[in-house]
Amino acid sequence: MTSRLVVLISGNGSNLQAILDACKSAELNAQVISVISNKVDAYGLTRAKNADVEAIHFAKLEDETRQEYDKRLVNFVITKQPDYIILAGWMRILTSSFINHFPNKIINLHPALPNTFPGTHAIERAYEAYQKGEIEHTGVMVHLVPDEGVDDGPVLAQQEINFIQNESLEDFETRVHQIEHKLLIKTIKELIKP
Ligand code: GAR
Repeated sequence: MTSRLVVLISGNGSNLQAILDACKSAELNAQVISVISNKVDAYGLTRAKNADVEAIHFAKLEDETRQEYDKRLVNFVITKQPDYIILAGWMRILTSSFINHFPNKIINLHPALPNTFPGTHAIERAYEAYQKGEIEHTGVMVHLVPDEGVDDGPVLAQQEINFIQNESLEDFETRVHQIEHKLLIKTIKELIKP
């Protein structure tokens, strides 16, 4: 059966694009039902529209608490009957109001290894740590989201990435993204296989 995916994004959406492409080529037996962004100007919304997929800017209302926002989001996402909810660059911490409704269904991608560089700008922070001689390698991971822990949870897949001497931050970022696109698709494929 074709799996139903809801993808949450906040920005460029290159990982979303990898998912859309893999669905189109049938590498993934899945369909993106809806793409939701908390940011109005997220380019990922354009990517969704270009692929004829529902693209929703889910704006936070004035005076709305995080819990209230998440409850509204739950009510919307439930209507999509997702098999999995993929956080592909969703830069907003979900509260238990959302998480508890979707046990073992929320998958997060993070451009660092488990327990390293949680939060934003992980790629830049890892690059800087390498320049300072603090780390020898970094990586990317895909994990389940069981609670409100930031970029933390049971790891589904991870891949180490070596640094290359004198590589620019820009080139390093490009390399990390290429690796995470592949790891994300491979992990979703494993999850949805019959
Ligand atoms: C990706 O590198 C993803 O791993 C990261 O945001 C980027 C989104 O890129 N997520 C996190 O940092 C989560 N803490 P994209 O919009 O091009 O897919």
